[in-house]
Amino acid sequence: MNPVLKPLLETVRGKRQDRLPIWIMRQAGRYLPEYRELRARAGSFLDLCYTPELAAEVTLQPLRRFDLDAAILFSDILVIPDALGQTVRFEVGEGPQLEPITAMTLDRLDPETALEKLNPIIETVRRVRAGLSPDKTLIGFCGSPWTVATYMIGGRGSSDQAAARVFALTQPVAFARLIDILVDTSVEYLAAQFRAGADVVQLFESWAMNLDEVAFDRWVIEPNRRIVEGLRREIPDAPVIGFPRGAAGNLPAYAARTKVNLLGLDYGTPLAFAQNLPAGLGVQGNLDPLRLLAGGEQMDDRIRQIVAGFRDRPHIFNLGHGIVPETPIAHVERLIEVARGAF
Ligand code: CP3
Repeated sequence: MNPVLKPLLETVRGKRQDRLPIWIMRQAGRYLPEYRELRARAGSFLDLCYTPELAAEVTLQPLRRFDLDAAILFSDILVIPDALGQTVRFEVGEGPQLEPITAMTLDRLDPETALEKLNPIIETVRRVRAGLSPDKTLIGFCGSPWTVATYMIGGRGSSDQAAARVFALTQPVAFARLIDILVDTSVEYLAAQFRAGADVVQLFESWAMNLDEVAFDRWVIEPNRRIVEGLRREIPDAPVIGFPRGAAGNLPAYAARTKVNLLGLDYGTPLAFAQNLPAGLGVQGNLDPLRLLAGGEQMDDRIRQIVAGFRDRPHIFNLGHGIVPETPIAHVERLIEVARGAF
């Protein structure tokens, strides 16, 4: 008997399927009443991430409601700084807050014990796999080193990542050491996710804009390339989705040099830009999340344009960035219906 195929995983592997695979960036979260209900019982956001029973339940919530092709592990990109020993807090309504790393305090990070601290998240992967039907893909993830470093150095999200950019320019040796720690920890963390049942992983490089081509090469392409290479040494042919948000004209170099299987595109990327990418390279995306929020004809039209625009290569339908909490659930149902109908 043939094993059950996972349409999303096959698409990542470069084989276009009869079914358009769909998942939604940040599909578990505050726009879902069942998430808000569980979240209120869970204590802090990090407690939720480190409680396998609850994190597995939250991971599966969107698949109970919608006809999606993948579950994405419920966790956060900032569990790695937390596991390395940096103080990380999520204040309600404020976003993450970290005690900023300096060249002086870099040595206090402890990569030796980080993987052990991430064990509960690996247990979540195991539980989700056990509860997921065999045609559904389980996506693991981590933040890419540059993006995680911007939070570790800046202490919070920022629109220009100035703190990390200045740090990288004025203290390049210390910065390279931080990136090395993040590369090594990410490889082991992702390999553990695969061993626990993840089918594919996504590298979230959410802050890939604002770097010139030299810095992009050194701090985005090179660390992501090393993660893919290191991971495939442990997990041969490990399927990887890269999402360098805002990479724009740097996308072709990122795709060619990191050797990710499939490229996540933000909503600013013109559909025709895919012509600059290696032939046959799969893409993921790229509806503006605010089109989903607003709904109606403008959303339907753009979904159809996207599906048509990526007709000639493997395509996973997704948003071009995370869903926003105010999004009506009916609009998500409509997105799935229209995208499948257009395929
Ligand atoms: O459903 C999923 O996609 C899986 C879970 C997931 C979360 N964060 C849960 C979360 C994933 C994949 C992430 C990734 C993440 N986290 C990124 C990369 C993707 C992106 O959006 O660019 C980044 C930059 C972060 C860092 C982060 N975590 C921020 C900036 C925030 C605050 C902003 C916000 O939306 O509140 C978080 C908190 C966070 N991560 C929440 C969730 C569901 C909300 C916290 C809560 O529920 O209290």
